[in-house]
Amino acid sequence: MSERPFRYDLLQQSGQARRGVFHTPHGLVQTPAFMPVGTQGTVKGLEIGLVRETGAEMILGNTYHLSLRPGEQIVRELGGLHEFSGWRGPILTDSGGFQIFSLAQMAKITEEGAVFRSHIDGSKVSLSPERSIEIQEALGSDVAMVLDHVVALPNEADVIRQACDRSIRWAARCQQAATRDDQAQFAIVQGGLDEKLRIYCAEELGKLEFPGYAIGGLSVGEPPPEMYRILDVTCPVLPTDRPRYLMGVGRPEDLLEGVRRGVDLFDCVMPTRNGRNALAFTDEGTLRLRNAKYQTDKRPISPTSPERVRQHSRGYIRHLFMAKEMLGPILLTLQNLAYYQQLMAGARQAIEEDRFEAFYEQKMNSWRNGDE
Ligand code: GUN
Repeated sequence: MSERPFRYDLLQQSGQARRGVFHTPHGLVQTPAFMPVGTQGTVKGLEIGLVRETGAEMILGNTYHLSLRPGEQIVRELGGLHEFSGWRGPILTDSGGFQIFSLAQMAKITEEGAVFRSHIDGSKVSLSPERSIEIQEALGSDVAMVLDHVVALPNEADVIRQACDRSIRWAARCQQAATRDDQAQFAIVQGGLDEKLRIYCAEELGKLEFPGYAIGGLSVGEPPPEMYRILDVTCPVLPTDRPRYLMGVGRPEDLLEGVRRGVDLFDCVMPTRNGRNALAFTDEGTLRLRNAKYQTDKRPISPTSPERVRQHSRGYIRHLFMAKEMLGPILLTLQNLAYYQQLMAGARQAIEEDRFEAFYEQKMNSWRNGDE
């Protein structure tokens, strides 16, 4: 087993929370880990050295966006996604399944795959499981996600079941389509909010022995406790010797709720998107920097902010946002990504010292006094 290039070593547990190391051809990822989102081959607003400075070890890119623009052959021509983006560490690419659901216009999904109109120029595009893997292989990511069928929640039981069954068949097709041994594929558990369906899906995908497993179709508008309930039943069915990735989640509290149930990897646009919108994540909770109360606030965003952020006052950063200066979004993106990385580093240390539950309680309490 130790010969597997995408090995996951489980080092320690604290309750269900797992401390591990995920091995990839471009380096190690200490888990639990948060992956910043670099949809278009860039983590929006941050020069790649700054992304590294936040402590991130693995980033995410998107099949859907990069295949439409500039096209995966251009990325390949320019040396693959690592060279193209300047990120020399591990990269995971999402398959396009979620973007067809959230971005594509007039998507028509059949057993063969999806046909939809590009959100960029309205042109007709097809994406099958085989095509998604072909694109992700051309991009050269370390981890490719299988193409899945994501449906809105709530939805009819029949629609959810059929999308789940289709996602299992598509996962098997993705596996068959693989030609690179330096790229791992992660399967994606679907099944909406139906516990039995989730367990069935995880068991079926488990039989295919993927090197990693994701939990998808969550954080699509359901109340957070519903998501936690699905994690409660899904995680115990997943193999303990493979990484578990909760897709598109979430707020700092969701990350800790996930870690507490045995999730190893997360990604979300929240720290970057909210940062661009003047929201800062801190140990005092979320600060809304456009709020007038920060106009003359001389304090830094937080005493634990990165030095590049800490050298400025809240009043100055508020001014940048009010004046629509690009430095405002840059500084709060840096703040938020660094905060998420600090949070995961804290979780890792707490698991190592078998005090994750105390860490969880302390963080949850610290966030109660934010601006929202
Ligand atoms: N990103 C967030 N959720 C999902 C999901 O269910 N599937 C895929 N492919 N990507 C996601």
